[in-house]
Amino acid sequence: MDKEKFLIKGLAGSRTLEGEIPVGGAKNAALKVIAASLLFKDDVELKNVPNIEDIKKLIELVRDIGFGAVSSKEHSYIISPKDRISTVLSPEIAKKIRSSVVLTGPLLARTGRVVFPHPGGCIIGARPIDFFLKSYEMMGAKIKETKDKYIIEAKDGKLIGAKIFLPIPSVTVTETIMMAGVLAKGVTTIRNAALEPEIEELAKFLNKCGANIQGAGTSTVIVRGGPLLKTGGVPLSIMPDRIEAGSFLILAALAGKDVTVTQCNPDHIEALVDVLRRSGVKIDIEKSSLRVTCDSRNKKKEFQSLDIKTHEYPGFPTDLQAPMTVFLTQAVGESLVHETIFEGRLAYAESLEAMGADITPMDPHRMLVKGATPLHGKDLESPDLRAGLAFVLAAIVSKGNSTVHNVYNIDRGYESVEKRFAKIGVDILRVSE
Ligand code: EPU
Repeated sequence: MDKEKFLIKGLAGSRTLEGEIPVGGAKNAALKVIAASLLFKDDVELKNVPNIEDIKKLIELVRDIGFGAVSSKEHSYIISPKDRISTVLSPEIAKKIRSSVVLTGPLLARTGRVVFPHPGGCIIGARPIDFFLKSYEMMGAKIKETKDKYIIEAKDGKLIGAKIFLPIPSVTVTETIMMAGVLAKGVTTIRNAALEPEIEELAKFLNKCGANIQGAGTSTVIVRGGPLLKTGGVPLSIMPDRIEAGSFLILAALAGKDVTVTQCNPDHIEALVDVLRRSGVKIDIEKSSLRVTCDSRNKKKEFQSLDIKTHEYPGFPTDLQAPMTVFLTQAVGESLVHETIFEGRLAYAESLEAMGADITPMDPHRMLVKGATPLHGKDLESPDLRAGLAFVLAAIVSKGNSTVHNVYNIDRGYESVEKRFAKIGVDILRVSE
């Protein structure tokens, strides 16, 4: 694949963007539903699947173990079970995406065995998989770890329901064990489960297809195991991406004259709407859209500083922490950014400082942002998905031109973001390196 970069002409702090910007299907919902297709005996038809790199990689992985996966229309896939499937996840593909680990639950539950490497993904912290392994062990599986892979085998080929307590409410562990429980023998209980809306959405779909899951979206999830599921031909449309909606809302706040973020669920980003409003951003909420307006008659167009602390849902999402920090560089006063979920997610701040931001790191989890500081255009290297998008926002606010390299990292989570940004007035071009 060609390496690409974005060329962005900054707005020098002026708020001129106008129009509607639509939100696509949720990456972190679609990835789990694709993995859940392994629990079915008939075809699973998915709609509104974002056309992004992480999805393409997971589809490759599903095909590699022997499932059919065709995309006859844009944003749609049909995933079909086959008689012979492999229990080995391709290390080349699995190492590229963190969500490959989500496949291990359904595959182990279906076949009684799974072999996989330590998963890859964005470098934002240690990202261990100990909770997955411990849960499989509690469900009666034997785990063998070699230099480059894990080999997991269920006792007599079948997982057994268990009572599992998660030390931290992990999103993917909750989803993966919930899926494994669907085909396990007996009842699986997950305590201190994560509460993210993608988990509830996944459980709703599985229940429609014959699963028996109670409590998804609360801290106790109870799964009664049963046979393979059946969609009966009813397709699933993936829910809107709340992180994309939030990123676009931050852009609208920073540089919008009158911007409406459409095709989203505002209830899923309450924490962000709350801090932006407290900071002085004018947001009007409808059922599936959020409108940000900057009233030119109002001379005092300043934003106020405030502290943010990332938290599991419904708290402030870690995936919006970097874009929000760009916003805080433009707010008057001192803001504390406290990242509580991942320990490697503040490294991008150095690049913002090089653009003129006043940021003081305190420890691996906290930094002080003093604003408002004008930013100036720079050559930037997108370090991971969310920080990459934050750099695009910073470049749009800046004076002068910026180049954001390593666009692949942004494409992992945002589909053709430059086309959607250009439609509301951003001067952005995708070119080969
Ligand atoms: N953790 C462990 N052991 C485990 C699993 C997790 O210690 O076995 C720790 C993690 O290291 C972290 C904490 O638990 O400190 C919570 O992480 P969690 O497991 O919830 O994160 P995740 O499930 O790996 C998902 C999203 C992330 C998002 C986080 C937090 C997917 C595919 N990924 O990751 O999304 O940041 O939840 O909301 O759903 C992104 O989209 O850019 C992204 C990184």
